[in-house]
Amino acid sequence: MRYLEAGKGRPLVLLHGFPLNAEQWLPQLSAAPSGWRVIAPDMRGFRGAGSVDAPVSPEMTVDDCASDVLALMSHLEIDHAVIGGLSMGGYVTLALVRKAPERVAGLVLANTRAGADSPEGRAGRDRMIDLVRREGPAAVAREMLPKLLGETTKREQPDLVDVVCGLAEANSTDGLAAALHAMKTRPDSTPLLASIRCPTLVITSDEDTLIPSSESEKMAAAIPGAKLHVIPKAGHLSNLEKPKEFSKIVFDSAIFS
Ligand code: MLT
Repeated sequence: MRYLEAGKGRPLVLLHGFPLNAEQWLPQLSAAPSGWRVIAPDMRGFRGAGSVDAPVSPEMTVDDCASDVLALMSHLEIDHAVIGGLSMGGYVTLALVRKAPERVAGLVLANTRAGADSPEGRAGRDRMIDLVRREGPAAVAREMLPKLLGETTKREQPDLVDVVCGLAEANSTDGLAAALHAMKTRPDSTPLLASIRCPTLVITSDEDTLIPSSESEKMAAAIPGAKLHVIPKAGHLSNLEKPKEFSKIVFDSAIFS
């Protein structure tokens, strides 16, 4: 499992969204302040991870991805960490909380939702699996890009479009299809939220059309003591679109000290 790492201190594991990879977190890795050790893995199936020696299964689940993260933490001799996930990374984070709450020192749930896919959502996943199998990762990037970045970012930071395309196109067809299956079959995590006992930040942005802020508001209201932050003028990929604001929310938050 490839992972990127920066800094020393309190561990923060950051899980990327679909269809990106660990490099989504480069702005936060490069901003890691003293006292934080930031670790960003490629989740199973992404950037070719698992496709050579251990082929990724088309039946992959968010639980498989969560087990990989727990195994990486054990490998790095990290007993418990703050776990942060954006979007699909958030789905895996919630699976990890379900599996091993004792290893979670805190949570960052960014631009994500607790609920499972609706029947229409699952049908959309099947169409996307067909698309990636027919036309490859570039087609997924083409299809998703308009929804990943906010209107302000598209206007004011047009270079980010190429960055996001590059991250998406570095993935394999099998990896993206497996991740779509994992998202499609993920369980509803809503019943878990009330049992969360660790400090939790919920982050959203006001131009996220893929997972609207209302989902984050609901999630924050259901997690005891959770703090909600809304980043202005950012879309779904808030940590890339507004890196300074995102990093400040996470690293300056008093709730993790
Ligand atoms: C993501 O950003 O990880 C995905 O777009 C989330 C999803 O499709 O549900």
